[in-house]
Amino acid sequence: MKDIILMTPGPTMVPEEVRKVTGMQPLHHRTPDFYALFSRLNNNLKQIFKTKNEVITLTSSGTGGMEAVVANIFSTGDKVLVASIGYFGERFYDIAKAYGLDAELLDFGWGNAVDLNVLEDKLGNGNYKALLVTHNETSTGVTNNVKEIAKIANRYGVVVIVDAVSSLGGIPLEMDEWGIDAVITCSQKCLMAPPGLAFVSLSERAWQMAKTSNLPKYYFNLKKAKEGVLKSNPDTPATPAVSTIMAVSKSTEMLLNTGLEEVYKRQVLYGSKVRNYIKDLGLELLPREEIASNLITAIKVPEKYKASDIINYMKENYKVLITGGQGLLKGKIIRIGHMGYLTDEMLDKTLTALKEAVDTLK
Ligand SMILES: Cc1ncc(COP(=O)(O)O)c(C=O)c1O
Repeated sequence: MKDIILMTPGPTMVPEEVRKVTGMQPLHHRTPDFYALFSRLNNNLKQIFKTKNEVITLTSSGTGGMEAVVANIFSTGDKVLVASIGYFGERFYDIAKAYGLDAELLDFGWGNAVDLNVLEDKLGNGNYKALLVTHNETSTGVTNNVKEIAKIANRYGVVVIVDAVSSLGGIPLEMDEWGIDAVITCSQKCLMAPPGLAFVSLSERAWQMAKTSNLPKYYFNLKKAKEGVLKSNPDTPATPAVSTIMAVSKSTEMLLNTGLEEVYKRQVLYGSKVRNYIKDLGLELLPREEIASNLITAIKVPEKYKASDIINYMKENYKVLITGGQGLLKGKIIRIGHMGYLTDEMLDKTLTALKEAVDTLK
């Protein structure tokens, strides 16, 4: 639908400056113009990941990035713990199982955050090689305290792998400072660009593990991809999604010009504005407020409503698209994404649309 406002957890809205770039003739990926652009992108990404390590660009969605990390650093039967708080935690567990890891799911329940004491107990007694965890659980609107989680894992020498698909560039994450070994994100959420790319970065320790990894990989071979990034004329092993690379190059430049600290501050304001509005409407948030995400808000749908009716009302009458629940929460919640490119006008329209939907449909 034309002119629709995407208040979803991704793809998110793409600013006009970035859309213009997307509409340009794609560069050829074996030319100096591309090398210069890719080099600028890699530099921007390192600043956003807050790492001195290389950031690898993969032509895939975020899930491909998660799979690439698993396939490249582990070997068959490696014992890993997956701390899950929802749909995407379970996806990480599924990927680990699919690759033959000895994966254990530590389920904290949908709508909760990782309990640090429980995690500490588990890691202290379990002899795990790695911990896989979601930073911002998009299915429930909960943000995990990854800084503390990484601290605990590091205390026990456990490698920390973070799915930051819906968080990087929106809320603080300091890969090197917090001692994280792998961070994964994508183009279509906080980075304000169209879908098509995943980005991953590995610590020195994770690259060491990659040397002995025996799992099958070809397209997602991170060692090969890193060689491409390190060339004086950096490139990718196969044809990348050039238009999306051009777009992310522009959007990350915009993000850095605004300043990450400024973006983080703005997200805190958006998060509390949405939550306060929801409470004033008499609706209930899914998670406790202390763990609620500033990037996406999950709202319980009261018995008298149908989630799909609210979503359709907002779409048809206001051209605002929000989403429903996934997995266990299908039909039980609605979710408003407020990450990436967002203006006060878009947010106000969304909240007005929600109020009218709730008033009209009751
Ligand atoms: C936290 C999280 N992890 C992973 C994914 C999967 O990303 P993609 O749909 O780009 O494969 C998503 C997508 O919404 C997500 O929010």
